[in-house]
Amino acid sequence: MNSCGFSWCEDPLKPNLKDISLVVKAGEKVAICGEVGSGKSTLLAAMLGEVPRTQGTIQVCGKIAYVSQNAWIQTGTVQENILFGSRMDSQRYQETLARCSLVKDLEMLPYGDDTEIGERGVNLSGGQKQRLQLARALYQDADIYLLDDPFSAVDAHTATSLFNW
Ligand SMILES: Nc1ncnc2c1ncn2[C@@H]1O[C@H](COP(=O)(O)OP(=O)(O)O)[C@@H](O)[C@H]1O
Ligand SMILES: [Mg+2]
Repeated sequence: MNSCGFSWCEDPLKPNLKDISLVVKAGEKVAICGEVGSGKSTLLAAMLGEVPRTQGTIQVCGKIAYVSQNAWIQTGTVQENILFGSRMDSQRYQETLARCSLVKDLEMLPYGDDTEIGERGVNLSGGQKQRLQLARALYQDADIYLLDDPFSAVDAHTATSLFNW
């Protein structure tokens, strides 16, 4: 991003973000900190091209996987929610479950990862939904992973484990 401004209401006089210059190179991990309402989610949405740009230039190279702040799941099985249309690769799948600390949770579900969730199935906890979202993103072979507040619904211990993996 080169001197970028973004405004949800497309009004250059009412920017939600202004004068943002940001370069993130391949292989870098960047954490954005700021108080509630400071525009962290807006910054990620801007990278996705969801927020009207009112100044500057932006260039994003590569396939993006995105975990939104509000966890969402589709009606279907746990496995369907993670694969999300991608081909099953057992090793990658198991690794993803481990990395997202989901193994124990799945053992407790009546049919494991074949359990129906969402409207017509079991209700997952907020933390479980969040880790499922993370697994869905991680399973994708993306170049850029945008994670919006991915630890907000999990406890400190789980957050540490997720971070380290
Ligand atoms: N989808 C949206 N549509 C319109 N305005 C939004 C949307 N998301 C965030 N905003 C506005 O952008 C500003 C920054 O919010 P946000 O990016 O959600 O902050 P943070 O993620 O740091 O808490 C707020 O004024 C908020 O009302
Ligand atoms: Mg936010």
